[in-house]
Order: sequence, then C-alpha cells, then structure tokens
Amino acid sequence: MTQTLTIRRPDDWHLHLRDGAVLEAVLPETARHFARAIIMPNLVPPVVTGAQAAAYRDRILAALPEGMAFEPLMTLYLTEDTDPADVAAAHASGLVKALKLYPAGATTNSASGVTDFDKVRPVLEKMAEIGLPLCVHGEVTDHDIDIFDREAVFIDRVLDPIRRATPGLRVVMEHITTSDGVDYVKSNNADLGATITTHHLIINRNHILVGGIKPHYYCLPVAKRESHRLALRAAATSGDARFFLGTDSAPHTDPNKESACGCAGCFTATNTMSCLAEVFEEEGALDRLEGFAALNGPAFYRLPANEATITLTRGDAVTYPDKIETGDGPVTVFDPGFPLHWSVSA
Ligand code: NCD
Ligand code: ZN
Repeated sequence: MTQTLTIRRPDDWHLHLRDGAVLEAVLPETARHFARAIIMPNLVPPVVTGAQAAAYRDRILAALPEGMAFEPLMTLYLTEDTDPADVAAAHASGLVKALKLYPAGATTNSASGVTDFDKVRPVLEKMAEIGLPLCVHGEVTDHDIDIFDREAVFIDRVLDPIRRATPGLRVVMEHITTSDGVDYVKSNNADLGATITTHHLIINRNHILVGGIKPHYYCLPVAKRESHRLALRAAATSGDARFFLGTDSAPHTDPNKESACGCAGCFTATNTMSCLAEVFEEEGALDRLEGFAALNGPAFYRLPANEATITLTRGDAVTYPDKIETGDGPVTVFDPGFPLHWSVSA
C-alpha cells in the first residue's frame, strides 16, 4: 500500500533568497513547495528601510516564474540607526512582518548589525507596542568565546536581558542549534518562539569535520555535538507550537564554499520537505510534520495557515539535482547523507 501524507502547504520562516541571478535561480526551488517565507534582509547593502524592503519584494515577485504562487514576507535589518517611525509605518502598511537582529559580525553580511544594544532600545519598545516580532541571530561575537558556546552565552548575556528590559517584545530565536536554546524557549511564555533548520536536524559537527573538511555542511550557527542535534529533533517533533520550520536555506556558489575561507550556509530549499518527512518518520512523528512546517509558524506570526495542501508520497528513492545552476555559478544542494523516499506533489 502506498503511504501518503497530505498537509497544508508549508511556509519557511527563515530564508535567504539573495538578489539578481542567484535570486532568479533559487526562488523556484522554494516556491515549488512553500507558500510563503520570511525573507532575510542581509543583502549587500542590507535591507534597512521600508522603501528598500518594498523594492526588494518587487524584485522577488518579478523573479517568480509564471504560474508559481509565492508570498515573500519581508523583514528589515535592525541597525543602530533604525528609525522607529519607519518601522511602525512599514508594519502598518502590511509590508514588514519582522525585524532581524544580527549582532555585528556574527555571520554572512552582518557588518551593519548591532554592537550597542542600548541604541536600539527605542525600536524594540516600538515593536513591543505594535506586536512586531524580532528575529534574532543568537550568537555572541566575542573573540574569547568558543564558537561552539556562542549560542548559549548569547542567551545569558544578550537575549534574556533584552527580553526582560522589553516586556511584551515577541522574539523568534532563529535557527537554534543547542539544547540550551530548546530549554530557554521551553522555560518561557508564548512571546518566545524558535525556528529550527532542516540541516540541524540531520547533521552534527562530525559531519563537517570527520574524514576531511566538508564545506557544504558549514553554516552559522555551526552544527554542534550529537546530544544537541537530538534535543533539536525532540523539540521539532514534540508538537510544542513554539518550535517551527525556518530552513535558513542560504545559497553560496561552490567557489565561495569550497575555499580556504569558505562562506557559511547550507542550501536546503530543493529537498527540505523530503528531508523533513524522513526525519519525522524516523521519530515516529509524521502526524506532527504539519504542525512544525505549516501551522506553528503562522500561529506565531498571527497569520492564517495556508488553505492549499501538498501531498508527500513514500516510494522509491527520490532524485533531485546535486547542484542548482545560477548566473553566478553552481550552488550545491544539501546532501542529507541518506536516501530520501518521500516525494512532494502539489
Ligand atoms: C547565512 C547566509 O549565508 O546569509 N548563513 C548561514 O550560515 N546561515 C546567514 C545566517 O543566517 O547566519
Ligand atoms: Zn539565515
């Protein structure tokens, strides 16, 4: 008997689409399965104002192939110069669904991020007042903090103080990678949610470093030890509505990944739903995949769940391209390291 699973069309609550030739090539990979995505603003230069977000949304919609439906949910990159009035106007018009906080220097294109958190206090207070979520890249950047500890230290030194100082601020801890992140979310109220990526449910740090360095598994926050991966799997498949899918699919061309100083990011847009079905099946939680990928995110963002559906069908191994060709060069698709059996149809 063929096993099938029909769920509401999923959304991606953390996605990098880039711009220009790469945008054109990667957008269909997401739009094929996903109805909406929270679009990361870390372009060069970053998307800082409402006007820049509107222009970026128009470029995304212009790059969407005929016949595909997709709604980009725009974000603004929080800087120390962000104007609370511009944020409020961009939110009131329905354009902007979140602000993104990058600690300065934490990851790809984060040089314009925040160093002095007191300087962004008026913006955070405005966001708490209007209910606009803050998406947080949760890693400290201090040179004396080990890269594997940067998420846990961020919770204590930055995130918890910000949340205490700004009651009512709604926060998404993006791409959590540790049991510390899971525990912090669980010990708080519904104003705090977390996204979990596809790849962090599948790889641990051994995948990056054992048997030769594997640049296509390198991303930020970097994958941690196995016990953390297991904590993420337990959270994602638990049914707890505070955890939802944000793939953090982050395309970089192969020459930029396979380099003496390779870029951070895993490109998972192409095979995410097949990977997730495999993970949820392994955990005996296929009935919770819809919550994780299609219900919990909209509930946090106070948006309706999608009416359309997708159907996952279990069969022979699914084939997908190893690489996506873009006008700037090839982008390697995430290799989960095991065969995928679930194909997706609309
Ligand atoms: C992201 C990118 O390439 O823009 N990279 C990554 O490793 N996840 C930035 C980010 O989300 O940290
Ligand atoms: Zn990201």
